[in-house]
Amino acid sequence: MSEPVQTPQTQTAAFPARIFSGIQPSGGLTLGNYLGALKRFVEKQEEGIETIYCLVDMHAITVWQEPEKLRQQTREGAAAFIAAGIDPARSILFNQSQVSAHAELAWIFNCVARMGWMGRMTQWKDKTAGKNAEAASLGLFAYPALMAADILAYKATHVPVGEDQKQHLELTRDIATKFNNDYGVNFFPITEPVIEGAATRVMSLRDGSKKMSKSDPSDQSRINLTDTADAIAAKIRKAKTDPEPLPETLEALKERPEARNLVNIYAGLSGRTAADVLGEFAGAQFGTFKPALAELAVSVLAPITTEMNRLMADPAEIDRILSAGADRAEAIARPIVDEVYEIVGMVRPRR
Ligand code: TYM
Repeated sequence: MSEPVQTPQTQTAAFPARIFSGIQPSGGLTLGNYLGALKRFVEKQEEGIETIYCLVDMHAITVWQEPEKLRQQTREGAAAFIAAGIDPARSILFNQSQVSAHAELAWIFNCVARMGWMGRMTQWKDKTAGKNAEAASLGLFAYPALMAADILAYKATHVPVGEDQKQHLELTRDIATKFNNDYGVNFFPITEPVIEGAATRVMSLRDGSKKMSKSDPSDQSRINLTDTADAIAAKIRKAKTDPEPLPETLEALKERPEARNLVNIYAGLSGRTAADVLGEFAGAQFGTFKPALAELAVSVLAPITTEMNRLMADPAEIDRILSAGADRAEAIARPIVDEVYEIVGMVRPRR
C-alpha cells in the first residue's frame, strides 16, 4: 500500500536557515520539556538564527481536552516560553490555530503521506496499545502530517526536539521528499532534526524505562515547571535509585537507568556533560548527590516559575503577544502555502 520513499538528498543547504519547533499545551510543562526543548529553543534564539516557536493547540485536541483548561494551558505554555528566555521580539511565538496555513497544508500532506507511514509511527502505536484503535480520533492518526505542515509551512531547515520526536521528523523528511518528487519541484527543504545535549530523553523519576511525561498519572514521576521549591526537592529525594554509589564512567551507568537519568538531569541543568558530572560525583552516595541535584534544580527552575506566575497574572498581555506572533508567522506561511496550492493545481482566481 505504501509507496517507497526515495532517499532524501540533503537539499537543506539551498534554503536559508530557519528554526521551527512546537510544544503541545495538553498539560503543564515538565522538566523533560524544559531540558529537551525550551532550554535549547533559547540557545537557538541566542545563536541569532530566525526562530519560530508554536504552542500546537490543534495537536493537543487529537485527544480530548477540556476547552477552558486548554485555553489556560496554552497561555501558561506561552508564559513558560517567555519565562525560560524566549524574547517575543526576537523569536516568533504564537499558537497554531491562529495561523490557518497549518491546517491547510496539513490537508495537502494528508494526501501526500501514506496510511502505512502513519501506522508505523511508534507514538500512534503507543497511544493505542491495549486500547481500541478504532476509537482513536482520525486526527491522532494524521498527527504527523500536521506536524510536517507546521515545519514546512515555514520551510524550516532545523527543528530542535527531544529524542521522542525523531521518528516524526523522519516522516516530515519523507513527506517533503515525496511532495518534491511527485510535483517535480525542489520546493520544500529536507529538514534536519536537532537533538543535542545531555538530556534529550529525560526519564520518569519513578521508572527509568519510561519517559518523563505530562500525561503520566503519577505526579511524583515528573517535575512540573509550576512546582514549588519544596515539591521539587521532595520529588528528587523520593526519586527511585539503586543502592550503589555513583561510578566513575558512563559505561558503568548502562544498566542503572534511574541513576543515569539523575546524572543526565544534573548535566542538562548545569550545561555540563554527564562524564563531567561523574568526574565530580564519582563515589558519592545518592544521599549526597540528590540534595546537590535538588539545589541545582531549584536554582534553575524557581526563577522561571516566579516569572511564569507574574506573566500569568496578565492573560490579556499574553494574548497580545500570541496575536502579534501569529501575524508575523502568517506573513511567512501564507505565501508559501499559496504557492503550494499553485503547484498542486488549485484554481485560486481571487488571489
Ligand atoms: P511534546 O509537546 O510532547 O513535547 C515538546 C518538546 O519536549 C520534548 N520532550 C522531552 N525531551 C526530553 N525528555 C522528555 N522526557 C521529553 N518530553 C518531551 C519533545 O521531544 C518536544 O521537543 N509532536 C510534538 C509537538 C510538535 C512539534 C511540531 C515539534 C507539533 N508540531 C513541529 C516540532 C516541530 C510533541 O508532541 O511534543
